[in-house]
Amino acid sequence: MDNRFTTLNISNESSYTIKLVHKELSKISEYFSGSSVSERALVIVDEQVHFYHRDWIESTLGKIFKYLSSYIVPSGEKSKNLSQFSSLLHWILEQPIERNTPCIVIGGGVVGDLGGFVAASTLRGLPLYHIPTTLLAMVDSAIGGKTGINHSTGKNLIGSFYQPIGVFADTHFLSTLNRKEWTNGLSEILKYAFIQDKGIFTNLEELFAQNYDYEPPKWLDVIYRSAQIKSEIVAVDALEKGTREFLNFGHTFGHAIENIADYGTFSHGEAIFAGMYAAILTSNKFLNAKIDPNLILQYAYRYNFSLASIRYLIPDLIEQMKRDKKVKQSHIRLILLQDIEAPVAYIIENENHLSAVWEQTIDTFS
Ligand SMILES: NC(=O)c1ccc[n+]([C@@H]2O[C@H](COP(=O)([O-])OP(=O)(O)OC[C@H]3O[C@@H](n4cnc5c(N)ncnc54)[C@H](O)[C@@H]3O)[C@@H](O)[C@H]2O)c1
Repeated sequence: MDNRFTTLNISNESSYTIKLVHKELSKISEYFSGSSVSERALVIVDEQVHFYHRDWIESTLGKIFKYLSSYIVPSGEKSKNLSQFSSLLHWILEQPIERNTPCIVIGGGVVGDLGGFVAASTLRGLPLYHIPTTLLAMVDSAIGGKTGINHSTGKNLIGSFYQPIGVFADTHFLSTLNRKEWTNGLSEILKYAFIQDKGIFTNLEELFAQNYDYEPPKWLDVIYRSAQIKSEIVAVDALEKGTREFLNFGHTFGHAIENIADYGTFSHGEAIFAGMYAAILTSNKFLNAKIDPNLILQYAYRYNFSLASIRYLIPDLIEQMKRDKKVKQSHIRLILLQDIEAPVAYIIENENHLSAVWEQTIDTFS
């Protein structure tokens, strides 16, 4: 049976294993062996995941822990907010917890970011375990320790770096993921192809050519390679003081789309897909790069969204980009490509020059 793992070394003191399996959720028990194991575990789980996988989760974790306290988070980006954070904190503090009570967060990036931040904030940090259940979470959000919630003024503006003790991905969860969510995960996988490994384009071509579009076990290689790239980048720069920011390729544009249209209108994956296209146009315009936009547009047929509704909001989009966490001395700082596999940080001196990029992006996705 396929069973892969990679170890992420954050520092001499902190390292953790990211395990990827197919239909072997019970292997998670390996994370909880030893004498200091708590009798109780806190489980923070996405509503949809709870609906589809409740029996599987409860029977597996029920064998490891005597008591499980579960909190079901409503599905969707809107749950990544202060009020859900506050409800979760109240709930946790009402449970009979101790400092070693593990917090097991099961879901996609939304529940992962929210639950991770709650674990980071309770008793100055509970042991955190991620069980990612979306493609996006398996290749990206569960790895690397970024936790947080959104604020009305911007995406992910409240949060902290808090590394988990372990990440356990079982591709069996993907069997219930709808097509739109598979496509959302594709955006982050494409990001790795652009910034670090163009071999991923070939892997994807092979998967699609053989009609393995939604077959979890067939995606193990691509998921594993993506998780590995993320781990390698985070291992060098956990706190995003340098090369980790390359993972933001397409994200400053994407976050502006997500924020301007109210969270949930466009999914993260859709916004990032359009954002990577905009970043490619910007790379060609400002860096004189020669990236073929068709490298990304060839996947556009898999997405089903239109940016027409934000056509008249270009000044607001640019204003929103200035609120991004990556802004330096009030200038927008973007991750662009000098070439495929050659990302670079670039400061936009005059943001009005981005209007044409936004116009072309919105035209392309209308
Ligand atoms: N922390 C990081 O480093 C990082 C990186 C990338 C993205 N993110 C964040 O991740 C979020 C997006 O994550 P996402 O795309 O996983 O979205 P999500 O968590 O909203 O999940 C997408 C949808 O899939 C459903 N779902 C989850 N697992 C399922 C399963 N196995 N079967 C059926 N349905 C399932 C959810 O209920 C939800 O409706 C964004 O908030 C983004 O900011 C964080």
